[in-house]
Amino acid sequence: MTLVPKTAQLVTTSSAPTSSRIDFPKGFFWGVSTAAHQVEGGNVNNQWSLWEAAGKIKSGEACGVACDWWNSAEPDFDLAREMGLNALRLSVEWSRIEPQPGQWNLAALRRYREMLAGLLHRGLQPFVSLHHFTHPQWFEQQGAFLEETAAERFEGFARRVVAELGDLCQHWVTFNEPNVFAALGYVLGEFPPGRKGQIRTALRVLNAMALCHARAYHAIHDIQPEAQVGWAHHYVVFQPANPAFPLDRWSASLLSHLFNEILLTIIERGRPTLPLNPMKGRLAGVCDFVGLNVYSRFHVAFSMKHPSQLFSKVYVPEHVPQGDSGVEKPYGEAYPAAITAAVKRAARIGKPIYILENGVPDAEDRIRPWLIVNAVHELYRLIEQGHDIRGYFHWTLTDNFEWSEGWHLKFGLVALDTSTQRRTMRNSGRLYGAIARANGLTPEIAHSFYSQTEPGRLILPRSRNLTL
Ligand code: FCB
Repeated sequence: MTLVPKTAQLVTTSSAPTSSRIDFPKGFFWGVSTAAHQVEGGNVNNQWSLWEAAGKIKSGEACGVACDWWNSAEPDFDLAREMGLNALRLSVEWSRIEPQPGQWNLAALRRYREMLAGLLHRGLQPFVSLHHFTHPQWFEQQGAFLEETAAERFEGFARRVVAELGDLCQHWVTFNEPNVFAALGYVLGEFPPGRKGQIRTALRVLNAMALCHARAYHAIHDIQPEAQVGWAHHYVVFQPANPAFPLDRWSASLLSHLFNEILLTIIERGRPTLPLNPMKGRLAGVCDFVGLNVYSRFHVAFSMKHPSQLFSKVYVPEHVPQGDSGVEKPYGEAYPAAITAAVKRAARIGKPIYILENGVPDAEDRIRPWLIVNAVHELYRLIEQGHDIRGYFHWTLTDNFEWSEGWHLKFGLVALDTSTQRRTMRNSGRLYGAIARANGLTPEIAHSFYSQTEPGRLILPRSRNLTL
């Protein structure tokens, strides 16, 4: 049977049989992912706060107090525990920890210790990212990753963090999505530093981040030999609009090469496939796991009208499952089968795999339950085929500040009212919690969301426990 939301007539991209129970391996991580700037609030010393102050967020908003985690993350940790999750990914904010070069903020490090200890105390394994799109203003002013000293700087930061927090964390994610950081910052101009069309520079940034990753990988292992270190790679499926048309196939594979392949290939083989920028370090195999952030599929048609986009028209067809729209354009096709494409590609590196992000912006919970059930089925099939997948982290726990889109895209399993900081569990949150607690999916769980077509209505004061 194919699971599609009742409320929308959608073309399904994957089918989720529900006739029998599926069980995941013991110890599988069911988590949620977050990032410091998106949830902490009060980050005023990184390059994103300047970007917001310059009015660059499409909705005109700013991050503000976000989900108020810097003051009080613990009620959300309680929610995650009560849902039955056993892992939570967060990032540490470099600009808090090293506000000026070489100057360490011990109070910030103490707060992160408190947060990680709080997670462990609740049975939630912390996965910690060192860089999730934000860094200190001083680093940006020095030229960020394009500056010669970047690797040394990043290594210094990694060493300090791991020395201080290593006893509370086993899994380190050096970078979140270097490919998104480079593409949106240097080609599309939607992230700071807001440069447009600079493909060569974007590739230099990508290569520099790969070198930083390698330096941090070795540094972390120096301090904590048993650590598991990887990075989070965003993987997008680029579908030729007309697979029978060679130019559409060429366009799709060019975009896939530039976006998906370069970094994977650097880490797989130790060098990029295109000789655009010679690598200066040995990088082959420098990871203990591959983290995959997987959301969407885009269609690609060859187009003479789009020379600045490498002659590619990228679009989302009508009648495909889609979350809420971005400010200027559709956000992408919600495509659970992208997990399979991403895992099959990443498996060539030969390391364990974690899905570190997967989700959809969906304020009314129209398709998130469908996405979760189908994602779980994709994972199950892959594990059955022998893929070493060790965890799934949904993006995200509570609605949060969605970068250049601002606040209006709602990715949370839990809705957030930013004016009161009240949380409301969505139906998809209940569904995901049930999957995590069962460590799998039963027909009863899969169907439970059909009986609850209304989005969750339960209003939760922050301090009260939640009954699912
Ligand atoms: C990913 C980012 C994450 C969040 C989701 C929706 O690309 O890593 O911070 O914005 O998209």
